[in-house]
Amino acid sequence: MTTTTSPVLNANGVTMRFGGLTAVRSVDLTVNSGEIVGLIGPNGAGKTTFFNCLTGLYVPTEGSVSYKGTVLPPKPHLVTQAGVARTFQNIRLFANMTVLENVLVGRHTRTKEGLWSALLRGPGFKRAEAASKERAMELLEFTGLAHKADHLSRNLPYGEQRKLEIARALASDPGLLLLDEPTAGMNPQETRATEELVFAIRDQGTAVLVIEHDMRFIFNLCDRVAVLVQGQKLIEGTPDVVQSDERVIAAYIGTPFEGAPGQEEAAEVEAAEAQQGTRPSGAPKSTTARTEDGQ
Ligand SMILES: Nc1ncnc2c1ncn2[C@@H]1O[C@H](COP(=O)(O)OP(=O)(O)O)[C@@H](O)[C@H]1O
Ligand SMILES: [Mg+2]
Repeated sequence: MTTTTSPVLNANGVTMRFGGLTAVRSVDLTVNSGEIVGLIGPNGAGKTTFFNCLTGLYVPTEGSVSYKGTVLPPKPHLVTQAGVARTFQNIRLFANMTVLENVLVGRHTRTKEGLWSALLRGPGFKRAEAASKERAMELLEFTGLAHKADHLSRNLPYGEQRKLEIARALASDPGLLLLDEPTAGMNPQETRATEELVFAIRDQGTAVLVIEHDMRFIFNLCDRVAVLVQGQKLIEGTPDVVQSDERVIAAYIGTPFEGAPGQEEAAEVEAAEAQQGTRPSGAPKSTTARTEDGQ
């Protein structure tokens, strides 16, 4: 952990209206260097819209967004250039490009040569290309995709496409990475690997803001969690505080969330008891395969 933390992202009173609908209402959020911050909330709460306001896809109706103290212009490429990268809830890759090429596309904001020179293979391009390729391969190693470098991205399994999106986002050398549902559609092993990847990204000096529905993932990973309900921030705090807040349980979770600590075990015990009557005390625990808890 770095000894001094400073704000990387500052969202101030961000409001986004679509006609009569206020999708995001006066949201303040700060992400500090060295932090992983979670953004949760029911479907339609405004999480993705908020991300779109942060990354220049939408111009907020009100409010401002700054990165390391400088107000971000509401233009996606300028936001990327400033140091904020993102992945999308609906994967956006170039399906007919290779894995390596997809990462190289993410790299072009950081190369002096630029996209046109790359496409036209102008002078100076060869040198820049070699350096870019080296960096792209490093990122594929980092995300565990190096062995797929030459595969077409459309042929990757879904979980690997999500990883590739992360690798591509990292190619712009961001100081802040925004992840919109990075584990959607992943199996538990892939989710666990993604958790490790996000920790590693943070450890390398990139702050992370992550939207996710998987509560176990969020509460394991995040230093702080903000809850959005109907476009408004309901509460923000440490995972412990947020998990035990009555309003969060009522407004968002309703019933104990899937994967809540102890829930798996409770369900297992219930099932075993239903099957064979009450278990004698001291009987060995269920022999069904258990996922290790990692806590
Ligand atoms: N471009 C848009 N035009 C009109 N309404 C939108 C647009 N984008 C999102 N919304 C609406 O804003 C609300 C929040 O959506 P969204 O940000 O996708 O929620 P979440 O990501 O939390 O599920 C929803 O009611 C959605 O229909
Ligand atoms: Mg969304």
